[in-house]
Amino acid sequence: TTSPGASPERLPFSTVTLEDLDFFRRILPGRTITDPDLLESCNVDWLKSVRGSSEVLLRPQTTQEVSQILSYCNSRNLAVNTQGGNTGLVGGSVPVYDEIVLSTALMNKILSFDSISGVLTCQAGCVLEHLSVYLEQRDHIMPLDLGAKGSCHIGGNVATNAGGLRLLRYGSLHGTVLGVETVLADGQVLDCLSTLRKDNTGYDLKQLFIGSEGTLGVITAVSVLCPRKSKSVHVMFLGCETFDQLLKTFQLCRGMLGEILSAFEFLDSECMRLLNTHLKLDNPISDCPFYMVIETSGSDARHDEEKLHNFLEEAMTSSLVSDGTLATEESKAKALWSMRERVTEALRHDGFNYKYDVSLPVETIYQLVTDMRAHLGGQAKSVVGYGHMGDGNLHLNITSPTKDAKLLAAIEPFVYEWTSARRGSVSAEHGLGLKKRNYIYYSKSSRAVAVMAGIKAMLDPRGILNPYKTLPDRLL
Ligand code: FAD
Ligand code: MLT
Ligand code: ZN
Repeated sequence: TTSPGASPERLPFSTVTLEDLDFFRRILPGRTITDPDLLESCNVDWLKSVRGSSEVLLRPQTTQEVSQILSYCNSRNLAVNTQGGNTGLVGGSVPVYDEIVLSTALMNKILSFDSISGVLTCQAGCVLEHLSVYLEQRDHIMPLDLGAKGSCHIGGNVATNAGGLRLLRYGSLHGTVLGVETVLADGQVLDCLSTLRKDNTGYDLKQLFIGSEGTLGVITAVSVLCPRKSKSVHVMFLGCETFDQLLKTFQLCRGMLGEILSAFEFLDSECMRLLNTHLKLDNPISDCPFYMVIETSGSDARHDEEKLHNFLEEAMTSSLVSDGTLATEESKAKALWSMRERVTEALRHDGFNYKYDVSLPVETIYQLVTDMRAHLGGQAKSVVGYGHMGDGNLHLNITSPTKDAKLLAAIEPFVYEWTSARRGSVSAEHGLGLKKRNYIYYSKSSRAVAVMAGIKAMLDPRGILNPYKTLPDRLL
């Protein structure tokens, strides 16, 4: 039997011929790439854990060009892998075999911004950080923020339904994305690019594409509801002794900072060790078993500071928090945020990464890290826990010097069974991609998976869009 994580067999798609290349060069002159050196980076994922062997990279600039590409590929039975910033963590963004890579990198135009409603409409290839800078100049912010902001595209964010560091405050993209324009597998353009807050004219089709990981259509443009930039932003970096204290501090925060709380993130001391070792980042406070990054965003600095002062006093006198620092100035706030945002990068330097992204009832999230450490004994190099505490989302990461099949067999299916037994999700925010596709049944019923497969068959009958991803190899 093959392991659930193993690569599936290549499906009987056509292979790219010289005539196909002629066609692509005609519609995308100078933007049909076949140079192996240029193809190298789009065949390998960010974690350098999976590698495809595509020989063609297409760089369209318009929806019409995407439509022409898909219409042609569908008629020729050529498989297509849509790629944004290639920062995905589940092997979904790179080809498995020789799928054509369709990059959104040149679809990077902002189409409109309405400062009254706060609705931004842009092409799918806009880099998240560029959108954030554009909006900040207009007194607004993006409703999402993540460590990969410098590379990831908004289309990739929508395709993965990325969560990130602000979800606690602004909710998921299922709420903040108001419209999506998609090109379907046969080249038809599905225009659901609404900018309305409310629209109950039947099924909300755009929701299907949010989190569909490139398997149902190519997202070419989106409209996003953007909040106003807060006048007063504060970031605290606090340390505590136990996970129970972390939980109690979270509860205290919700009670005392309620309406101004905009993020509540955590990391453990093992993450801190990796930040020190691999990125030379110094701990801004004294050593503790757990750390929190807490952000508040409000409209009145005096009011917010008074609240923060009362919260800190209560947290210290009730001995929940052992040490901490508070930043108002932007550069210091950024430095504190990097202690949380750069854990992913530190882990990549530590060796081969086994990444788990689960959501669970918040009070149980760290027990998985403790149980995993006990279960593995000394087999792993590092076992670390961090994540979006406010969303009940744990990132459990394990490393070994090189890829180690014996260690993997000790981790899986243990981690999935543990999560499933508590009715958690085996992918809280990263999606399923190639790596997690066969673990879907730990979190979804076979009926639900069959409905997903039916939708896929309806929208992409030949299965050319991101094959081998998201859906499991077998229906139960
Ligand atoms: P890619 O990696 O290029 O693609 C991801 C998937 O979306 C693939 O399946 C691809 O086929 C599909 N896709 C991409 N663009 C389109 C499109 N236009 N139309 C249809 N399908 C498309 N994720 C979180 O949820 N929260 C985090 O906090 C977070 N932090 C991260 C931090 C780091 C340092 C890194 C490396 C990754 C992080 N991620 C996080 C994971 C990742 O999902 C996000 O970075 C991002 O949403 C992916 O966007 P991308 O443009 O890089 O997409
Ligand atoms: C994060 O929250 O840092 C991201 O989801 C990336 C990761 O899980 O490492
Ligand atoms: Zn995350």
